[in-house]
Amino acid sequence: MDDAFTENVLLAMEYERQRKEPPEGFPKLPLIPGGRYTDPEFQQLELEGLWKNSWLYACHLDEIPEQGSYLLWNKTSSPIILLRDKDKVVRAFYNTCQHRGGPLLKDAKGKVDGRLVCGYHGWCYNLQGELTSIRDKRDFVDLDLSSRSLTTVKCERIGNWVFINENPLAEPLIDHLQLIPAHLQQFQPDNIRLVHSKSYDVDCNVKILLDAFFEVYHLSSIHQNTVDRFLDHRGTVIKLWPNGHSTMITPNRNPEWVDPGTVNMAEIATVTEIPTKHNMSLNFYPNLVSPMTNTGMPFLTFWPVSINTMQVDCHWFAPAGEENESHPLWETRIENFERILYEDTQFAPQIQESVESPGFEGVTLNYQERRIYHWHEELDRRIGIERIPEHLRVAPLLESYIEKT
Ligand code: FES
Ligand SMILES: [Fe+2]
Repeated sequence: MDDAFTENVLLAMEYERQRKEPPEGFPKLPLIPGGRYTDPEFQQLELEGLWKNSWLYACHLDEIPEQGSYLLWNKTSSPIILLRDKDKVVRAFYNTCQHRGGPLLKDAKGKVDGRLVCGYHGWCYNLQGELTSIRDKRDFVDLDLSSRSLTTVKCERIGNWVFINENPLAEPLIDHLQLIPAHLQQFQPDNIRLVHSKSYDVDCNVKILLDAFFEVYHLSSIHQNTVDRFLDHRGTVIKLWPNGHSTMITPNRNPEWVDPGTVNMAEIATVTEIPTKHNMSLNFYPNLVSPMTNTGMPFLTFWPVSINTMQVDCHWFAPAGEENESHPLWETRIENFERILYEDTQFAPQIQESVESPGFEGVTLNYQERRIYHWHEELDRRIGIERIPEHLRVAPLLESYIEKT
């Protein structure tokens, strides 16, 4: 980003450190109703309004390296094929044969040779999803093959990162991301490679853990011996952006501090001062959180599994280059981060028990936790506030705090 952004953030950090109370006029945030974490009706609304109605990070091109490479992806209760064609084109289809719903692909990943063949009766589709041949065609009356293509899912890339959206009317990814692409450019997204991926199962509603990644109020408790030693949460700058996105910049206690897990790793020369010297965590709404640095970044993605279980995936990326991707410090860096992630998950099952208990009325939020409120406001907009039972709604209050440029 430009110098104006850097200057703006540095000034805001100073303001945050000095302030004695929230800025004048900042509203008292109402409780976020506990039922949003426990109510099956709300979960169904969330599935339709959020998970099937949002741009979601799906994979990196390195996971589907050649024409015909595919991944089977099932994060939103529907089986989706991510399939690479030539020229880095990636398409997404439901893994659903248009004859009687048989699966085209059964393995979690692999490579097809120019066509997808249904396992049930052998209907064949090309890499564009068009039905090209069927067995015993003479037995079908007036079957127009061109009307039986696979159902596509919107699929777009930013750099080497692939996103999908199950809403066929969704706006283009780049428009949806609003201010994020301008911040991403400095990381050269076309030149980013996948280093490592791992998934973690956690016994809580997906939003319990996601909420933890939107604030640094918890640093001096659960990260006392890790993150809190090098980040100063009292100087944290938060920017609420349109479409529910946001960023949180937490100053390093010492701007010259270097993460020991990154010493001598290759640096992306175009990365500016804020992500280089401080901790800048982006939220691509709804469920991608990335603290981005000049030596690479993890993408944390949070997925619902059931109403009280979830999975968090952690994908690590490095600037392209053999020596960067296989740098010996990656193991240390990933282990250090994993330790922090375990700190974040340690109370999650008990928090879930609490929100399900009569002892819990709702989530109380302060000024520095306002990203959580912003996230929930956007959730209600996506679902459509009139569809949400009144006692589960969040009153829209933060519109005037959203930065549009
Ligand atoms: S279900 Fe696919 S060919 Fe019959
Ligand atoms: Fe944390």
